[in-house]
Amino acid sequence: MDMTEIFAILLIAAGIYMMISIVFWTLELGISPTPTSNRVKQSLKQLLPEDVDGKVYELGCGSGSLLEMLDNKYRNNQVVGLERSPLPWLIARLRFGNNRDTLISKENFLGRNLTDAGLIVCYLCPSLMMALAKKLKRDLPEGCLIISHTFRLPGWEPVKVLQADDLYKTPIYLYRAGYCKEEFSGQPSQPASDRFQAAQGHN
Ligand SMILES: C[S@@+](CC[C@H](N)C(=O)[O-])C[C@H]1O[C@@H](n2cnc3c(N)ncnc32)[C@H](O)[C@@H]1O
Repeated sequence: MDMTEIFAILLIAAGIYMMISIVFWTLELGISPTPTSNRVKQSLKQLLPEDVDGKVYELGCGSGSLLEMLDNKYRNNQVVGLERSPLPWLIARLRFGNNRDTLISKENFLGRNLTDAGLIVCYLCPSLMMALAKKLKRDLPEGCLIISHTFRLPGWEPVKVLQADDLYKTPIYLYRAGYCKEEFSGQPSQPASDRFQAAQGHN
């Protein structure tokens, strides 16, 4: 067997490993590492606050394309990407290299303490949003902003909803921690427009 054949076999083995890894983790997590489209990213940008008080997290950051946008915007904050699937995690790690302000961690975000968050961004699926909705109510400091596209956070009332300029008119939801607590404490909830101003005032 010559070197070319060995190289070809290694290449095929690596390809098979990658395919198995993606399929396995997609079934395990209930979602594939589909990146956010450029059009949705451009619309989502409009909802990003200028300043954030705390860490910026992307939950399920995939290979890090959305995280790159967050990293470029929030130069003064630590930006953290959490990704469980090994291959997208590795790509994100290579992408950000030794950037000490951006941390890519191969971990389950449902087990992560998010009490130091100032902004959370995610693109997940309905079952994960359900689990996340309860966790975020427990973890997040009041005023923390959450941006999710495509799927809403069940039981949370959005401060604002935008439609992306794409074929599907993808909805992008902005939430602010604290409103749910008000709903549950029986206090009258603020009108949505006031809340968006409050969220903007959070900047
Ligand atoms: C639809 S992709 C979004 C990728 C990236 N956020 C983007 O918008 O371009 C969702 C990602 O969440 C990851 N994921 C799902 N459940 C997770 C969990 N419990 N902990 C960490 N990552 C998770 C998946 O592996 C997948 O890469």
